[in-house]
Amino acid sequence: MIIKNNPIQIPTPQYQSQRQTNFSQPIAFKSLSRIVGGNTLKPIDSFFYRDVGALNRTKQILQKFFPNGGVVLGGACSNGEELLSLVSLIENPDKYRFLGFDVSKDPIELAKNGVYTIFTGFPDSFLIKSNHSLSEPYTELKRLFLNFFQPTTKPDFVINNSPNYTNKSNLLGFQEEFFKVKDESRDKIQFFQGDIKDIDQFNTNNEPVCAVLFRNAFYHVLDSHITPIIRGETVLIPQNINRQIIANNSINKVYEKLAPNGAFILGDHPKEHFILADEFTDPQNIMKLRDLPAYQANQSIFRKFLTTLEPIFEKFQCGKELRRVGEIKICRKSPIQIALEKDGRFKPLEYSNVVLDVDWFTEKQQFATVWQKVK
Ligand SMILES: C[S@@+](CC[C@H](N)C(=O)[O-])C[C@H]1O[C@@H](n2cnc3c(N)ncnc32)[C@H](O)[C@@H]1O
Repeated sequence: MIIKNNPIQIPTPQYQSQRQTNFSQPIAFKSLSRIVGGNTLKPIDSFFYRDVGALNRTKQILQKFFPNGGVVLGGACSNGEELLSLVSLIENPDKYRFLGFDVSKDPIELAKNGVYTIFTGFPDSFLIKSNHSLSEPYTELKRLFLNFFQPTTKPDFVINNSPNYTNKSNLLGFQEEFFKVKDESRDKIQFFQGDIKDIDQFNTNNEPVCAVLFRNAFYHVLDSHITPIIRGETVLIPQNINRQIIANNSINKVYEKLAPNGAFILGDHPKEHFILADEFTDPQNIMKLRDLPAYQANQSIFRKFLTTLEPIFEKFQCGKELRRVGEIKICRKSPIQIALEKDGRFKPLEYSNVVLDVDWFTEKQQFATVWQKVK
């Protein structure tokens, strides 16, 4: 997929590549966040304890079903924050081997360095706040974080070059601290460059694979980027894409790789769950954005107001933008969910709140993010 009118801005030339405007190729995340769509700053990359409910449920599955240990495959691990958050939550991490992989080279190199920045104004900045200003569960998360990480000095290589970081670092009161994984924990975790599509070929030494994380990345695999489309950006999607087949192929491999009772964990980003329909989507499974509750008048006063005006827009040939968004076709049930439910292979164990929040359009739904392989 290519966004024509709003290419991603990657500020440091050394990390610019031909991939930067091509979403069909995975994107290397050098930074914790980047500018998406117009001038909106959104944290879309990884951060510590993101969707911690799903991570806690993963921890429970490991401890309950794999008390003797095994391998955890942390897919789409980016810089490693997510996998390391999971490790820090586990009471007996020494029993497990954690293998983080990402298709992009740059974040894997950062992950191998094991040094992280925490700074003010980001979802994980509670980790550098004083305990007095924290409530639960943040106090506990901070305690677990400091069990696993130790403070360190600013490294001599760049950790974060995002505009979000740069803008914040110029503000009065900006604080930044650096942490590194404690030496005794480092050998349990390895990072390598790898693609979920090759998961069947990863060498896991015949140890049981207890969990596969692949959070907030399936939209790259499926080439489904609903948020830029809602924004009206020019999006080129490959012809004849059949997202169901792509989802089936990946999920089949994940299923084969996982031990019985193992977990597969998705993310809570809306692009992961609101999947664009394609020409092969079963017509029964297609819905329009205007069919979502959020589009309906009773969900918000603003929507009600806009919906009331729609006939007037129609009459005067305006409100085209509103109608265009309403006409966007998405899957009623995502191809990933269909692939997971096929033949009852996986059952959902945990749901996360997913918020599709683009300009005036806000839809909140719960989606299953933690799935367990049924024996
Ligand atoms: C938005 S980040 C998500 C990071 C982390 N999982 C999280 O949720 O915080 C998406 C990551 O997916 C990676 N990625 C995209 N396609 C992939 C694939 N086919 N296999 C492995 N990683 C992939 C990208 O390189 C990027 O680091």
